[in-house]
Amino acid sequence: MLKGKKIVLGVTGGIAVYKAVDLVSRLRKKGVEVRVVMTEHAQQFVTPLTFKEISGNKVATSMWDSNQEYNVEHIALANWADAFLVAPATANILAKMANGIADDLLSTTLLAAQAPIVVCPAMNTGMYLNPITQENIAKLEAHGVTVMPPASGMLACGTSGPGRLPEPADIVNFMESFFAKREGDLLGLKVLVTAAGTREPIDPVRFVGNRSSGKMGYAVADEAAKRGAEVLLVTGPSALAIPANVKAVKVETTNEMLEACLAAYPDVDIVVKAAAVADYRPRDVADQKIKKKNDDAMVVVMDKNPDILKTLGQSKTHQVLIGFAAETQNLIENATEKVNKKNLDMIVANDVSAAGAGFNTDTNIVKFLYADGRLEALDIMPKTEVANRILDEALIIYNNRHSK
Ligand code: PMT
Repeated sequence: MLKGKKIVLGVTGGIAVYKAVDLVSRLRKKGVEVRVVMTEHAQQFVTPLTFKEISGNKVATSMWDSNQEYNVEHIALANWADAFLVAPATANILAKMANGIADDLLSTTLLAAQAPIVVCPAMNTGMYLNPITQENIAKLEAHGVTVMPPASGMLACGTSGPGRLPEPADIVNFMESFFAKREGDLLGLKVLVTAAGTREPIDPVRFVGNRSSGKMGYAVADEAAKRGAEVLLVTGPSALAIPANVKAVKVETTNEMLEACLAAYPDVDIVVKAAAVADYRPRDVADQKIKKKNDDAMVVVMDKNPDILKTLGQSKTHQVLIGFAAETQNLIENATEKVNKKNLDMIVANDVSAAGAGFNTDTNIVKFLYADGRLEALDIMPKTEVANRILDEALIIYNNRHSK
C-alpha cells in the first residue's frame, strides 16, 4: 500500500521530533518518497540536515528561502503529495489548522493541501486534554482530517497520561491502513459516475448548457479508481483530464448520457450521478446558424428530457444508486422529494448558491440524505474529500445489502 506513495511530513516543535527521524527512515524502507517540512521550533530539536540525509530530499523550512526547490514551494508541495502527515503535531499547529491560520511554510502548505491530511498529536497531557485542543481536534476531524490518537504513558515533562507520539512503527502501520482503506476497499466493484453538464444544441454553434465544470464527478471517479474500483465515467464536456485508470464515455446531450448509462447499468454495483443534466432541450435544432432577425425576442420551444436518474431508479436491482441535488432554496425538502421520486439510496444535496459550494469550486458543502430519512451534514471540504465520503457511504450501503 505504501510503495510509491508521496508523503509530505510536517514536523513541529516537540520533544518527540527525534522519533520523526526514525519515522522517515521506516517510511522510506516501505518505498515512500518523503519530503519534510519543518517549523522553526522543530529545528530547535533536530537540524534539517538530519532529515535531509534520512529523507534523501531537501528539507523545506521557510517561506522566504531563496534556495527553494520550487517557485511557489507551499503550492508545489500541496499539489505533489498523496497525503500529508504531521508528526509530531503540537497543540499550536492543531490550533492553526483548525482556524485556517497560515503564518509559516507548514501551516500555509497544509491550508493549500489537495490530498488528505493525517495528524499525530503529541504534547503534555494537560495541553492535550485542554477543551480548546479537543475542540480543535474535533473541528479538524469534521473537516476530514484523520487524527491518530496519541499513546499514553510517561511524558518528557514528567507527567503521565495521553500525549505521547505513537511509536514510528505504529504510525507506519496507521498510514498503511489509512491508504488501504482509501485505496483498496472498492476492489472488485464497478462504479458508474456521471459528471459535468449536458449540452442541448439550438443550432450548429449554440447550445443550452449549465455551469458544471465536472470537478465533483471527476473527483468521485478519480477517488473510486484509486480505491480499486473499475470506473466508468460518463461525462459531458469538461476541460478536465480523464483521471488515471478511469474508462470514459464522452457525451454532449442528455439523451446520449442516458444511452451510455443504460448500457453500463446492469453490470455496475454503484452509481454516483454528479452530472448536471439539462431537463429540457430545444424542440427544433437548426441545421444552419440561426440568423439575427429584426424581432426583439426569439422563442425557443423546449421539450422535456428524460430523467436519467429516475429511469435508473425504476429498473434498480442490486445497484447502490446515489444522486445529487443542486438547489438554491428549500434544500432538504427538495432533496428528500428527489430521493423518494427517483428511488435512490442516498442523495448528496448541495446549496449551489453558497460560497465554497456547487459549480466550479474546489470545495463543496453537502448534506447526505438517505432513503430511510437519515440526514448527515458535512462541513466545507475539498471535493476530493466529499468524493471519498460519498464512496464510504456507498460501500456501507453495498455491504449491508450484500451481507443479507
Ligand atoms: O461539476 P462541478 O462544477 O464540480 O459542480 C458540481 C455540481 C454542482 C454539478 C454537482 O455537485 C451537482 O449538484 N450535480 C447535480 C446537478 C443536477 O442536475 O441536480 P438536479 O437537482 O437538477 O438533479 C438531481 C439528480 O438527478 C442529479 O443527480 C442529476 O444528475 C439527475 N438528473 C437530473 C435531471 C435529469 N433529466 N436527469 C438526471 O439524471
